[in-house]
Amino acid sequence: MNFKATHLKPFGVIVEPVVQGMNVKELDLKSLHQFFLQEQIVVLRGFSTFRDSEDFAKYCELWGEISIWPFGKVLELIEQDNPQDHIFDHRYVPMHWDGMYRPQVPEYQIFHCVKAPLPGHGGRTTFSNTVLALKNAAPELKELWGKVTGIYQRKMEFYNSKTVSPIITKHPRRDFSVIRYNEPPCEGKDFVNPPDLEFAGVPGEKVKEFHQGLQDALYSPANFYAHEWQDGDVVITDNFSLLHGREGFTSKSPRHLQRVQVQSSPPFNNPGLESYK
Ligand SMILES: [Fe+2]
Repeated sequence: MNFKATHLKPFGVIVEPVVQGMNVKELDLKSLHQFFLQEQIVVLRGFSTFRDSEDFAKYCELWGEISIWPFGKVLELIEQDNPQDHIFDHRYVPMHWDGMYRPQVPEYQIFHCVKAPLPGHGGRTTFSNTVLALKNAAPELKELWGKVTGIYQRKMEFYNSKTVSPIITKHPRRDFSVIRYNEPPCEGKDFVNPPDLEFAGVPGEKVKEFHQGLQDALYSPANFYAHEWQDGDVVITDNFSLLHGREGFTSKSPRHLQRVQVQSSPPFNNPGLESYK
């Protein structure tokens, strides 16, 4: 074996080379895929990585068909001076799933950390394992969540979409339930281009309790992992089972991530998409 694998808490696995200088492409993809199915997050750390974004995309193609955006295959996540959207801001991003506003929902997210923020400056990517959240939740909470449907609308540079999704739904390819939820941005916090959110099936007087219960579960240490980036990290995550967001970071501190979305095989058509322009 040319790598060592260590469990992360409370889920995920970190894979590191036994001998320095090994390239990430030398890792056996079947083993990594097995880790992905079992652990939902696979962190590859300490390997040499990619020459450029094209080389990164080429690696991602080994995992499956890449979801193509108007900007191409690789999203360059770098803070912008006057961001038109929160993804290019330095502030926090609430929990959501990728592809919720797109015709197809990708199964894999593959991140490559070109430049990590300095230690102590924030910017961790946050992940909640919704399979664990459901397993650990009290039955009365699950009963409430099971009655609620989220109605989400969002307009940004690349789409103007409406999506409707039950809070609890089946994993599209496996035999267990997952949570699909776009957490409302924290009240009082500045947030660039927020979506319109509505939640049907929960009586008015219970709305606050509903969000609180769900957020407590998603951010509970038993279900939550925040990835602190190091230069050269490659992270593969399960977008069907997890929700993710971002912690705020010090503005102008370096943070450059590349992200590629890879479809399941066959690709999964977004069941909740009501309109897409
Ligand atoms: Fe995202």
